[in-house]
Amino acid sequence: MRTAIVHPGADNLRYEIRQIVEVAKAIQATGQPIRWENIGDPVAKGEQPPAWIKEIVGAAAQEDLSFAYSPTRGLDETRAYIAAERNLEGGIQITADDILFFNGLGDAISTIYGALHPTARVIGPNPAYPTHSSAEAAHAGLPHITYRLDPQSGWKPDLADLESKVAANPQIAGILIINPDNPTGFVYPQDTLAAMVDIARRYGLFLISDEIYSNLAYPGSAMRKLASVIGQTPAIAMRGISKEFPWPGARCGWIEVYNRDQDADFDRFARSLLETKMLEVCATTLPQRVLPRVMSDGRYYPYLDQRVNAYDRRARHAAEVLSAIPDVIIHPARGAFYMTAVFKDGALNLEQSLEAPESAAAIIAPHLGAALDQRFVLHLLASTGICVVPLSTGFNSDLLGFRFTLLEADEDRFEALIADLAAGLRAYLASSRPS
Ligand SMILES: Cc1ncc(COP(=O)(O)O)c(C=O)c1O
Repeated sequence: MRTAIVHPGADNLRYEIRQIVEVAKAIQATGQPIRWENIGDPVAKGEQPPAWIKEIVGAAAQEDLSFAYSPTRGLDETRAYIAAERNLEGGIQITADDILFFNGLGDAISTIYGALHPTARVIGPNPAYPTHSSAEAAHAGLPHITYRLDPQSGWKPDLADLESKVAANPQIAGILIINPDNPTGFVYPQDTLAAMVDIARRYGLFLISDEIYSNLAYPGSAMRKLASVIGQTPAIAMRGISKEFPWPGARCGWIEVYNRDQDADFDRFARSLLETKMLEVCATTLPQRVLPRVMSDGRYYPYLDQRVNAYDRRARHAAEVLSAIPDVIIHPARGAFYMTAVFKDGALNLEQSLEAPESAAAIIAPHLGAALDQRFVLHLLASTGICVVPLSTGFNSDLLGFRFTLLEADEDRFEALIADLAAGLRAYLASSRPS
């Protein structure tokens, strides 16, 4: 090209969660069955949306207005429903005008970081969810700035690390929280949330709280939405139906804007999001039409309870089995449907491997790079067909580990999966002890 056309941030766009699929598919083509523990789509993993939700969607599909554009902000009645539900929960009170619909949170995330002033940064958790960290890094053309989630203390954020980075980097304008967290399954205690709001308040920052899993927090996790502790600090909460209904293919999510009246710059930023969305016209209409009908149905919350109870059971089982491996740190998830195992310092080296069929070993060979957790993930894939995501390359982390899901609904198959994962870990770690 006569002039450069590649955005300087383009190299920051990576989604290893899906990239590992290419390698796994090549192995599958050799006849090796793959256990897909990499992707967080409950439906692809075999969960069936309940028949009554399908009936509501089917009936709405017969209505002509489901085929129409919706207003740019989203359907009035749907936003009014969400605002009323939010206000019933206590904490900050909002109106329908504080809500803006997107084509899934993926769309909301790229719009928000894309609309930020070019030099403004948002600090996010490490391990990081790549849709946020890549979009933020691509917006800035610089690596994403992160604060540490500490595997030694059950994945609690290291607040001293957060505050020191906020203090040292005046370009940081916002703090991202993912609660419940992907990839760790951590649920932020109320006092931790309050401390993060306090940091934002003292330094003049806004918060973004991705709460796409907030209705999938487990019993006893004491999940609190940011709305309950935000006080007068500007913030954006994000929610969606991809994981809840579950209906990721609907591409439906929304943001709730808190305290825009407290800061003129934040208010202008929130309006710029609406203006950006106006250029695209609107988000998908059908899922917005069914949202209040599904969520107000008496069967909805009992249905979610039954799902989270099953995830909770699987999380405890996985933690019990995998925590018996001395070189692995693991905590049971308290929300969402993922868990992350971390390797202790020095547990991995370049000599370790697992026995695998020759064809699978040949497929992974060109991908075996320097990232030690990625090497484990590739060897596990070739040897057992279990497909998980490495922490360092998949979640922008300086920790070595991997994420797997709790979505296998057949309890026998789930237990076999965890047993095979544990056996793979033990064999890999024993294949070459560090000197
Ligand atoms: C934390 C988090 N935020 C956002 C998303 C994207 O959701 P959506 O389907 O609404 O784009 C995901 C999807 O996995 C997620 O895990």
